[in-house]
Formats: sequence, C-alpha cells, structure tokens
Amino acid sequence: MSGPLLVTGGAGYLGRRVLALAAESGAWSQVVGTYHRTPLATGAGLALDLSDPQALDSALTELRPQTIIHTAAVSPALGSAMTNQALWQVNVQGTAALAQWAARTNTRLVHVSSDAIWGGRDAAYTEADVPAPITPYGASKAAAEALVQALHPQAAIARTSLIYGWQPPDPNTVMAFEMLQGQRSGFLFTDETRCPIFVDDLARALLELAQLDLAGVFHCVGGQALSRYDFGAALVRWHAGDPSGLPAGSTSASGVRRPSQVIVTNTRTRMRLHSRLRGVEEVMAEEVVHGTYPGSYQ
Ligand SMILES: NC(=O)c1ccc[n+]([C@@H]2O[C@H](COP(=O)([O-])OP(=O)(O)OC[C@H]3O[C@@H](n4cnc5c(N)ncnc54)[C@H](OP(=O)(O)O)[C@@H]3O)[C@@H](O)[C@H]2O)c1
Repeated sequence: MSGPLLVTGGAGYLGRRVLALAAESGAWSQVVGTYHRTPLATGAGLALDLSDPQALDSALTELRPQTIIHTAAVSPALGSAMTNQALWQVNVQGTAALAQWAARTNTRLVHVSSDAIWGGRDAAYTEADVPAPITPYGASKAAAEALVQALHPQAAIARTSLIYGWQPPDPNTVMAFEMLQGQRSGFLFTDETRCPIFVDDLARALLELAQLDLAGVFHCVGGQALSRYDFGAALVRWHAGDPSGLPAGSTSASGVRRPSQVIVTNTRTRMRLHSRLRGVEEVMAEEVVHGTYPGSYQ
C-alpha cells in the first residue's frame, strides 16, 4: 500500500471521482481531498487556496502526501470569476508552488492539463506538439505545464479534453438540457471538435499514472473526436432525451475566437497505460445512466 494521496480540487467535477475511486481501490494508506470554496462530498479534507503559496506550503508539509493528483484549476466555467489575475495566481503560480514543493520532497505529482493549450488545426495533436494557446485560459494551462516540466521533471502531465459523466451530470449535459428546455440561450458548435473523456476513465488513468514512475506528457482523452453539437446530442440521448431541438451554430457566427478543431491522439498513452480511454460511443454502449434529466440519479 502507498502512503497518503492528496487530490487537489476534491470538490470539483473530476476531483470528486478521483477521490471516490481512490478510496474504493484501497491502494493508498490515506486519501485526502483539498477544498477551496465548496466543501467536499465526504465532509473532511484539507482547506487549500492555491493563490496563497505560503498556506499551500504549510498545508502540504503538515500532510506530507506521498502522491499528489493536481486537478484544481480556475476554468471558463467560472464565468466572471475567471479573471486573468485568477488564472495566473491559481493555474500558474499555484501549480508552480505545488510542483516546487513536490520536487523538493520527492513527491509523485500528476498534473492535469487541457487541450486548451492548442488553437486548433486540421491535423491531430500528439504528445510532441508544442503548446500554442489562443485563449487566456489555454495560456495559463500551457504556462503551468512548462513550469511543472521545469521544476519537477519526474512529474506526469495528463492532458485531457471535455469531461463528462452522469453521477452527477456534467456541465455539458446540463447545458444541453437547459438549451433544449429553453432555459438557456445560445447553440452548440458544429465546427468545434474535441475528444471528450468519460470522467471515470480519466480518474482511473490519473490513479494509474499516480502509481507509475513515468514522467512527461500523457494524452488522457477519449478515443473519438466529435463536434460539440454531436457531443451534446449524444449526451442527451444517453440520458434518454430527444436531441432533435438542440440548437446548432458555428464558431464563426458566434464572433468569438476559439480553438476550432482540437483532435488529440491518445495512441501513445494507450500503449503505456492499462486504463481504458474510450470514445463517446463506446462509453455510451457500455455505461447505463440510472435516471433521467433533471430527475434524480442513483
Ligand atoms: N471540465 C473539462 O471539460 C476539462 C477539460 C480539459 C481540462 N480540464 C482540466 O481538468 C481539471 C479538473 O476540471 P474540473 O472540470 O473538475 O473543474 P472544476 O469542476 O471547475 O473543479 C475545479 C476545482 O478547483 C478548485 N479551485 C479553484 N480555485 C482554487 C484555488 N484558488 N485554490 C484551490 N482550489 C481551487 C475548485 O474549488 P472551488 O469550486 O471550491 O473554488 C474546484 O474544486 C482542471 O485542471 C481543468 O483545467 C477540464
């Protein structure tokens, strides 16, 4: 059994599942999640504000984790709370402080990054492609990656894409249903491609990486590329809904500069990990949603 595992962002969409699956696995002597504004589902945990490096240092020194899975970040889902200052303090400086502490104490670090580090192109991105972000969020995640690599070369960097699941429904599912039910304006892009990943597949891949002595970049994305519109429609069908009224549109019509086609290949990562990184169709054929939106889920 390994020593204590610390999961930052333990109340986040991904962090919650990492904590639950880590506890289930029994592989760690202790599993601790950090929380910031939102309390953990399990109640206990370690209060941590990544934008306060001194507090971060003392919290880590007190717990002395053997392994850290760093999922916490400020993301566009936060809306106006996601200022450039918050991006820099939390995603960049906070991650750098964490990586520095982990390197100094010889602590295993798995850092979660994003496909937002790229601007989009026709060809698929491999682990060897150099980050070229076009949004402030993407720039913060790219800077964080560079700092992790420089400060803690033994760390693993897990790049991922849109995260989805049904326990509870993820923000993309909620958005699609809200659009269908007329509670939300806007549309889903038909010309923006991603490789969505089932939250449990991602959580298992991160836990596997945490137990391996592998450094460098890993593409923990799903094995199927699809547009945001097709993804939204698939999520609605998965929850036994009818996606025919789902509003479709193009990024050019939106007037916002966004990464368009970001197809990320996971071939190399699949060869190195046992964890499955399934495509959307494969997940939805195998995983049954127990509930209907917006009802209750068991
Ligand atoms: N969701 C996606 O589709 C997606 C796609 C690509 C990459 N990623 C990456 O995957 C990771 C997890 O994403 P997610 O969807 O689980 O995000 P999430 O649900 O927004 O959770 C993020 C977590 O970070 C915490 N956090 C924010 N500011 C903090 C601070 N100053 N100090 C400490 N903790 C702080 C949040 O706590 P509070 O809410 O309490 O502030 C929350 O628990 C992130 O690194 C993200 O960049 C996500």
